[in-house]
Formats: sequence, C-alpha cells, structure tokens
Amino acid sequence: MSCELMTWVKSEISEGVILVRVLNTKSRKFENYWPIPSGTSYNFYVVKGSEGIALIDGIDIRFSDEFFEALESVVNPEDIDYVITQHTEPDHSGTLAEVMNRAPKAILLGTKQALMIGEALADFPLDRAKEVKDGDEVGLGNKTLRFIVAPMIHWPDTMLTYLVEDSILFTCDLFGSHGASERIFYDEDPDTFEFVDYYASILMAYYNMAAKAVAKVKELSPRIIAPSHGALHRSLDEILSMYERWTSWKPSKKALVVVGSQYENTARVAEAAAEGLREAGLETVILDSSDADPDDLLAHTLEASAILVATSTHNGRPFFGITVYMELLKEYRPRNKVAAVLGSFGWGGGGTKAVRQSLESLGIPVLEELAFKGKPKETDLERARELGKRLGEEALKLVS
Ligand code: FEO
Repeated sequence: MSCELMTWVKSEISEGVILVRVLNTKSRKFENYWPIPSGTSYNFYVVKGSEGIALIDGIDIRFSDEFFEALESVVNPEDIDYVITQHTEPDHSGTLAEVMNRAPKAILLGTKQALMIGEALADFPLDRAKEVKDGDEVGLGNKTLRFIVAPMIHWPDTMLTYLVEDSILFTCDLFGSHGASERIFYDEDPDTFEFVDYYASILMAYYNMAAKAVAKVKELSPRIIAPSHGALHRSLDEILSMYERWTSWKPSKKALVVVGSQYENTARVAEAAAEGLREAGLETVILDSSDADPDDLLAHTLEASAILVATSTHNGRPFFGITVYMELLKEYRPRNKVAAVLGSFGWGGGGTKAVRQSLESLGIPVLEELAFKGKPKETDLERARELGKRLGEEALKLVS
C-alpha cells in the first residue's frame, strides 16, 4: 500500500515483516555528488515477533517527517524492543536518535564500529546500546535475528542481519539500487531501478570486501534479499551472478571511449578509434567527459575490457574532464582492462602523455599513445581506426 502523496510505500514482505520505503524525488544528487535523475529511496524494516519487535535501520534525517509518519503507521515506537543499525552513514542513521527517544524500552544493536561512529555522527545513546558480534542472535519469540559482520561494504561498521525463520537477509547498502520506485521487487519492473550506477559509485572501491560478503550470502541462500536502498530480490541467481561478475572485475565485450575535446579535433580521432573498436567486435560507448555523469563513467569502466581515452591538451595537461576521470580511476582502481590514449594538440602536447602515465601507474596496460598535431588528416583518422581495432583485439583476449 502507499500513502496519499506517494512519499513512502510499505509492504508486508513476509508475515510480520514490513518494508517501508521512503522515496526521495527531491534530491538531484546522492551524497551531493552522484546524479540521481530517477531519484533514490531509503528502506527500513519492522520485524514483529510473538514476543518482541525490531526496527532495522533508519533513514536520512532530512526525511524525518516521512519516516515517523510511515513508522507510526506500522508500529507504536513505544513497543519497539530493538533498534538495529547495520551501517551508520547518515542516510541510514539520521533518524535513529529520535527513534530511541520515542522508544523508551528499546536497545540499540550494532557492531562496535557502528556504535562508535554512530555516537559521533548520529547522537547514538550509548547507555542504551549493545555491541553485537558475528553470529550473535536476538530472539523475538517466533522470530530470530542473526547478525553477520561484513566490514567495509563500504564503511568499517557494516553488518547484515538474517531473519532465520523467514529466510530474509537484510543487507543495507549491499545489493542496493537508486530509483524512487514504488515497485517492491526487482523482478516487478527492473527498469525502475539503477543497480550498476549504485554499485559502481558506492561499493566498487571495496570490491574485495563486497566479494567476501557475496560469498557468504550465496552460502546462506536466503529466500529474500532486502537492502536499505531500492529493490528487494527474490530471484537470487540474477543479482548474485551480477555481483559476482562485478566484484571479480570480469570484463565484457565492451569498450568505453572517454573524450575530452575542445574544438572537435580530438573528438574526430576518438570517433575513428571507436569505429575500429566496433570492427573488432566490441560494443562501444562514447562518453563526453564534459557532460558525462561520474557514476556513468565508473559504471561503463566497470564493465569495459577496453578503455580508450581521447584528450586534447590544455596548458600542457589533459582536458579538465579527463583529469576528473583519471582522479575517479585513482580512487576506484579498476582491474582487468587494456587501454589506449590518443588526442590532438595545437601548439604543444603533453595531455596524452600525462594520461598514459596515470593509467600505467594504476596498473592498466596502455597499448599505444597517439598524439596528433592540429586537425586530423585522413591518415591520422586511419591510424586511430587501426589503433581502435588493435585495442579491441587485445581486449577480447581478456574476455573469457
Ligand atoms: Fe546508503 Fe553507505 O549508506
């Protein structure tokens, strides 16, 4: 069901287990940086057992009114016995101090790191808090919550919570998605959720820790995966294989061409190189670094086996948008790629060399660096097309 203004939706996903999703259609950016054209959402859960009630996660304090309206439609806060914090970033911890005020008998449960960070960041009342360790359980009568410590997805405080009798795994950011969708499950309308952008921008930097958590989830094989952003999952094969592919950096038959061009000369050689990549058999995406959303740059980088960076030279350095892209790569450190660099310059080069050095310092092999002076001639375009083709052929060797 949903409220009249559709700022939140709720659904009983199993007997006594209620999902509440607050929809954020107001913010243009997540974390004030990542564009969210379809909005985002915050999920929290109320678990009602025969002898106890638990709340799992809060939401961003800016949506406090919606949160308490929705929460109180599900449970009287005075009846809550346990407040569980799986991760204390403010989009999940913001409303919890006020929950504790309104839930006088509740005990706050989280990892040691969650309680420490939450005290500083979200005013957690530590005199009413208890640390949980991996494998600890709390009973709610006919329902049992088991905690699975899974640090660094993507903060040191993170844990998952398994509702044993219902076989539901609450995962907070892990398996999260953007999109202010009213659909509860991913399989109801996959197009209303943005998964890859979410993973690439939020979790990809900690792929190795995410991979460990995914292995635990696979072993547990829950009936439902219930994240704290976006869609829930009841068809586990699809989401688990997607995450296994991403966390292992398994490359696809895809190429990403990132272009930084002031007067279209570099853009023309990039187009020629993209033709070569397509000739080699790679699905090729071209992004203009001036316009591309940073999460799109990361998401396409994640999936690509070939990366071609085309940059003009500006004051002896790469085009500004390309410099930003290089900084993103430094932070997210992609693996299993092969690259090439090309670009046109006017009176002095340097842009392509700096990009090549950046890529090589990240351990990404650069097949070739091609710098052209001035307007590209037909022979330059042909060299770029050839380079694209060779890059594509090298990339296909990475794709099994
Ligand atoms: Fe959705 Fe890392 O918080």
